[in-house]
Amino acid sequence: MSKLRLGVLVSGGGSNLQSIIDNVESGYLPVEIAIVISSKDGVYALERAKRHNIPSTVVIPRNYKSREDYEDELIKILNSYNVGLVILAGYIKVLSLHFVRSFPNRIMNIHPALIPSFCGEGYYGSKVHKAVMDYGAKITGVTVHFVDEGADTGPIILQRAVPVKDDDTPETLAARVLEQEHKIYPDAIKLYAEDRLKIYGRKVKIFSKEEF
Ligand code: GAR
Repeated sequence: MSKLRLGVLVSGGGSNLQSIIDNVESGYLPVEIAIVISSKDGVYALERAKRHNIPSTVVIPRNYKSREDYEDELIKILNSYNVGLVILAGYIKVLSLHFVRSFPNRIMNIHPALIPSFCGEGYYGSKVHKAVMDYGAKITGVTVHFVDEGADTGPIILQRAVPVKDDDTPETLAARVLEQEHKIYPDAIKLYAEDRLKIYGRKVKIFSKEEF
C-alpha cells in the first residue's frame, strides 16, 4: 500500500514540522511529507524543509484577490502533490468552509492550549500562553483536532495537560507546551495513518490495533 502523503501548512519557525520530519526519518511515522506550504516568506520552517529535501512553496494570502482565490491555489498545490492529510503546524490563517470541504476530515491542527479554553480567532502562538497566565489558569496543555469551518472548533483527537508554574513566563510555558506538542502531533498523525480514528459527530473514537 502506498504511504499517506502529508501537506504541511506553516507560518513560522516550524518546530512542529521538524518533529514530524524527525519521526518520519526515524520510521515512527509511516507517512511521506509531500509538500510544505508557507503563508509567509523567509520563515525558518522553509529552511527546515530545504535541509531535508522536502518540496516547499510560499503562498501569501495578500497576493490574492479574495480568500477563495488564495484557498483555490492551496487546494491546487495540495492536490497536485496527491496529499491525503493536511497538517496545520503553526499556520496562522483560519481556513474557510471552501477549503475545509475540499479535504473533509482530512485536516488536522495543533493548538497550544486545552480547547475549548484559550482558543479561537486571535489565539495563536505566544498570545495563547500570555492569556493563560493573565487568567491565572493552573493547567494548560495541547490539543490536536480535526479542522472544521470554525476557529479551533473541530472534533478533538488527542489532548495533553501541562501545569502552569508560579514562576513561569509566557516563554517558559510555551517551551514546556512545545515539548508536548512535538510528541502528541506525531502520535495523532500515526493514528490517522493507521486508520485508527473514527469521527462520530463531535467525538473521535480511537481504535486499538487489535480492533482492526
Ligand atoms: C505552536 O505552539 C502551535 O501550537 C501554535 O503555534 C506554534 C507554532 O510553532 N499554533 C497556534 O497557536 C494555532 N492556533 P512552530 O512553528 O515551532 O511549530
